[in-house]
Amino acid sequence: MSNEAAIAKRRTFGIISHPDAGKTTLTEKLLLFGGAIQTAGAVKNNKIKKSATSDFMEIEKQRGISVATSVMAFEYKDKQINILDTPGHKDFAEDTYRTLTAVDSVILVVDVANGVEEQTERLMEVCRMRNTPVIIFVNKLDRDGKESFDLLDELESKLNIKVRPLSWPIGMGDRFKGVYNIYREQLNLFSPNKTGISDDVENIDVHSPELDDKIGEAAAIELREELEMIDGVYDPFNREDYLAGEVAPVFFGSAVNNFGVQELLDTFCEISPSPRGRDTDHGRMEPGDKKFSGFVFKIHANLDPKHRDRIAFLRIVSGKFERNKFYHHVRLDKNLKFPNPTSFMAQDKSVIDEAFPGDVIGLYDSGNFKIGDTLNEGENFNFKGIPSFSPEMFMELENLDPMKSKQLDKGVRQLMDEGVAQLFIQQPGNRKIIGTVGQLQFEVINYRLEHEYGAKCRFIPKNYFKACWITTENEEQLAAFKRAKANYIALDKEDNLVFLAETPFLLTMAEQDYPELTFHKTSEFKLETA
Ligand code: G4P
Repeated sequence: MSNEAAIAKRRTFGIISHPDAGKTTLTEKLLLFGGAIQTAGAVKNNKIKKSATSDFMEIEKQRGISVATSVMAFEYKDKQINILDTPGHKDFAEDTYRTLTAVDSVILVVDVANGVEEQTERLMEVCRMRNTPVIIFVNKLDRDGKESFDLLDELESKLNIKVRPLSWPIGMGDRFKGVYNIYREQLNLFSPNKTGISDDVENIDVHSPELDDKIGEAAAIELREELEMIDGVYDPFNREDYLAGEVAPVFFGSAVNNFGVQELLDTFCEISPSPRGRDTDHGRMEPGDKKFSGFVFKIHANLDPKHRDRIAFLRIVSGKFERNKFYHHVRLDKNLKFPNPTSFMAQDKSVIDEAFPGDVIGLYDSGNFKIGDTLNEGENFNFKGIPSFSPEMFMELENLDPMKSKQLDKGVRQLMDEGVAQLFIQQPGNRKIIGTVGQLQFEVINYRLEHEYGAKCRFIPKNYFKACWITTENEEQLAAFKRAKANYIALDKEDNLVFLAETPFLLTMAEQDYPELTFHKTSEFKLETA
């Protein structure tokens, strides 16, 4: 296949949601449509989100399964769909943020009763940082929830994006009759169907009496009024605005009943973007560029101690990737070839000979890769934009076995390369402060240091509120700040200066007292300055 045809065919996206909104269920139904699985219930990752207390064996199980389900590729109609899985548990939010750098668009699932929840807002902020096109799927219409127009208002105000309904629910909960597909002018009547695929779709003019026969007179009148209101309130759908990340089309349905999912998938195939280019520190690489390039956005450790290799997930940005060909690992300035690159078609990991822009492949790695690494054909550019976010929990790592310092250092370095947590080194004394978004990571680190590296550690809680990356042009003010705050300054993995602020008040004070310094809550600012 030519590169052009392969690119045009691919759709690489992520499904995101607040836990329990229905991401796993929707993913499963999409796989059902794609023929990638035969029955519902096959995608069982993400379940640890439900345990209020963390259970390490559950994490272990999840890790085992999630390699297979990290990328789910299948063919649907004339498209090759690549779904990149994002962890449901909020303690793995950082993983999700990084995965979002490897997708070209996103489907955001919202629970009709709960509306926009905390994690939805944060994920949306990350999408907005790179203008990722978003489609919203309002789920669980078989239950009572918020009134549709109110919900649309909430989506706009809380997610800070314009919305445009492309389907519209007829009733809700017990009175849920179906959805009207505005985009295709089709009526789709509801019949609960948890395992199969519903195809009760009819082309019906909303103004014809046939509609009254189908859904009853009262519901028909209401639907007509609501559709008129939609046309009055919302601009007509414009694909360019969606592609620019300015408008989010909205669909309604019930994932568990497999309802409204096909409308979503069909429209997604029609409007969503084919693989997009990415910025590098030497200009932009486009999918159509001849030479191969790609970046690593995720590293998965093999927890089996007999197999210490890891899998690096590489998103291909341009050109064609070929098995056994030498590529340039830019950070190490080393040429590497890969005899067993894997694809993730239909949950099988199978060795592939070639892969195209938009694809994600797994590369077996014995320690060469870090998150954010670039591979290309002999050039020296690096892809930008794998951001780090300020962690929310901080602990100082104490070595409990001085004889194992080397193992501990190696383990900590490798776990940080995998993106399990962030390390800040504080002077004096080279103290290691580990920052995470949740408690789970500390357990993961503790367990893995012991089981994989034979090192023992303990964590001492630190009362920091945020780690803020500092930039300035005023060296004098920086020197004064460093003198005054010596105990609260650390270096991140790339030796960038970080201020560990204990409270929001102290951060505000620092901003007031040192107006020439900028305190960033994500490391993404480096993009602008690079
Ligand atoms: P998540 O990945 O976003 O965290 O959510 P998940 O798909 O696991 O769904 C969370 C719960 O919501 C599940 O129920 C699921 O069955 C249910 N659900 C998903 N879609 C719908 C829908 O359209 N309508 C209704 N009424 N429920 C829906 P559970 O009881 O927590 O788990 P399970 O035992 O059913 O798997």
